Amino acid sequence: MRLLVEAMDLADIPEVLEVDRLSYSLPWPASAYRREILHNRNARYFVLRQIPEGRPVPVPREPSRPRFPLGFLFRPQRNEEDRQSTGQIAGYAGMWLMIDEAHITTIAVRPEWRGKKLGELLLATLLEAAQDMGAHRLTLEVRMSNDVAQRLYRKYGFETEGLRPRYYSDNNEDAYIMTTPDIRDEQYRRRFEEHVTELQKRLGEAGDLFIHLPGGSLEAHSEEAAKDA
Ligand SMILES: CC(C)(COP(=O)(O)OP(=O)(O)OC[C@H]1O[C@@H](n2cnc3c(N)ncnc32)[C@H](O)[C@@H]1OP(=O)(O)O)[C@@H](O)C(=O)NCCC(=O)NCCS
Repeated sequence: MRLLVEAMDLADIPEVLEVDRLSYSLPWPASAYRREILHNRNARYFVLRQIPEGRPVPVPREPSRPRFPLGFLFRPQRNEEDRQSTGQIAGYAGMWLMIDEAHITTIAVRPEWRGKKLGELLLATLLEAAQDMGAHRLTLEVRMSNDVAQRLYRKYGFETEGLRPRYYSDNNEDAYIMTTPDIRDEQYRRRFEEHVTELQKRLGEAGDLFIHLPGGSLEAHSEEAAKDA
């Protein structure tokens, strides 16, 4: 499995919508993603790609703006040739950063790719991006019935903090509000790093691995991928 995590750009939207429709009963329209990418300075969205066998690992997209101090504020673009070699979007995730708190707006993995640690990789990406941006906490809403997602969040220290009654308009289901402790706290960071080390090991065992997280330290290159790059 060869993986690439990078910032979402406009050309990714059609594929993101496809995964959205397979994952949510209330998917977002394309305009919502366009707005997030183009106009929401506080939004950070990532896509996770599976690079097809035999294709070279693409060169990470170059930031179109200086990275300092906000490494995630760039809006990179790929040319068409690059795009064709990057492979299918296996998942995506996004959040808003507000002062010292980040709010996860979406996270989804293509159904046939679930259970392979990719959702966890996306969540770790968001956590790391939020840490880099100086956030102290992450928060989100999750359907009461969504046990899988809740287990993933709990693994990374999220706890239920409240309830939004009838939050989801399709079936009036309640949402749990889940929140992390202080992600900059040393104890939290240590635990996070343990999870990430384990995650890298598990993903590495699955085959070739190439993870590029813009600005992040969560990075792994297999020898094979390095040769391709
Ligand atoms: C939630 C979602 C992103 C998880 O992605 P995934 O790639 O399948 O999950 P992973 O393989 O990375 O698993 C990570 C953790 O999630 C939990 N988990 C994943 N699949 C699970 C399952 N079938 N049953 C119970 N827990 C599960 C576990 O805690 C797991 O950690 P573990 O393997 O150490 O036990 C994915 O199921 C999805 O896209 N769901 C639809 C969209 C959605 O509900 N998003 C969340 C909105 S709030």
